Amino acid sequence: VKKLNTSTIRRMKVNREPIAMITAYDYPSAKLAQEAGADILLVGDSLGMVVLGYDSTIPVTLEDMIHHSKAVTRGADHCFVVADLPFATYHGSIDRTIANAARLMQEGRVHALKLEGGAEIAEHVEACVRAGIPVMGHIGLTPQSVLQLGGWKIQGKSLEQAEKLVQDAKALEQAGAFSIVLEMVPEELAAHITEQLTIPTIGIGSGRYCDGQVLVYHDVLNYATPIKPRFVKQYADIGSTVQTAIAQYVSEVKNRKFPGEENVYHNDEGVIDQLKH
Ligand code: KIV
Ligand code: NA
Repeated sequence: VKKLNTSTIRRMKVNREPIAMITAYDYPSAKLAQEAGADILLVGDSLGMVVLGYDSTIPVTLEDMIHHSKAVTRGADHCFVVADLPFATYHGSIDRTIANAARLMQEGRVHALKLEGGAEIAEHVEACVRAGIPVMGHIGLTPQSVLQLGGWKIQGKSLEQAEKLVQDAKALEQAGAFSIVLEMVPEELAAHITEQLTIPTIGIGSGRYCDGQVLVYHDVLNYATPIKPRFVKQYADIGSTVQTAIAQYVSEVKNRKFPGEENVYHNDEGVIDQLKH
């Protein structure tokens, strides 16, 4: 499998080849997703919720993102890997944005960064691109702004909101983003935005007509995620597999069935007799 880059990803839109992206947060998830043929791995700041147990992505730090990105890029050596710049790390001076972005790229060894927001961050997107940092945009429901959006809800239902999202998408394309995530946007609006752009859209909860799709690893596998939104499809039930296996292990320890003869090492004959004398 040939590793993708920003131009081959853009070409997938032209060729109408769907882009399959999934999140990964550590060595095993990255390794398995790469082997399964995912086009792009996203070290999402959703790790704050599905791996670290926070109730939003707001507490996630740049250090957290670097730590997890390092593990993902060790596990996936020939996948295109994107990492999220976390909460409030790209909203001050341009210098600070570039410094934060550079740390995540260089220490995390990822190939691109994702930034949430539209026209209001276009200047920061442009500065990153000018510095050689490929940027993926993210509009619609932007979880880092959940407190301002007033909850986890669909974005772009009204004409006013829809117009703003179209303008945001165009501003990001203009600023040099190589693709844009559309999160929880109605299918019709997502299709319209996708048509209006030359760069690919990657949807989550945004219907069938985006150029690609992204889902959270733990959601795809039903791996200890407390809620299942309508847009998630569970392709396996890892959570119950894990729980059943661990329950069996615990029970076998309690019943002295584990370890069994096949799991133990032995001394050579006579050694322990001599030790006792
Ligand atoms: O953090 C994340 O997992 C994301 C995707 C849902 C797009 O940003
Ligand atoms: Na994210």
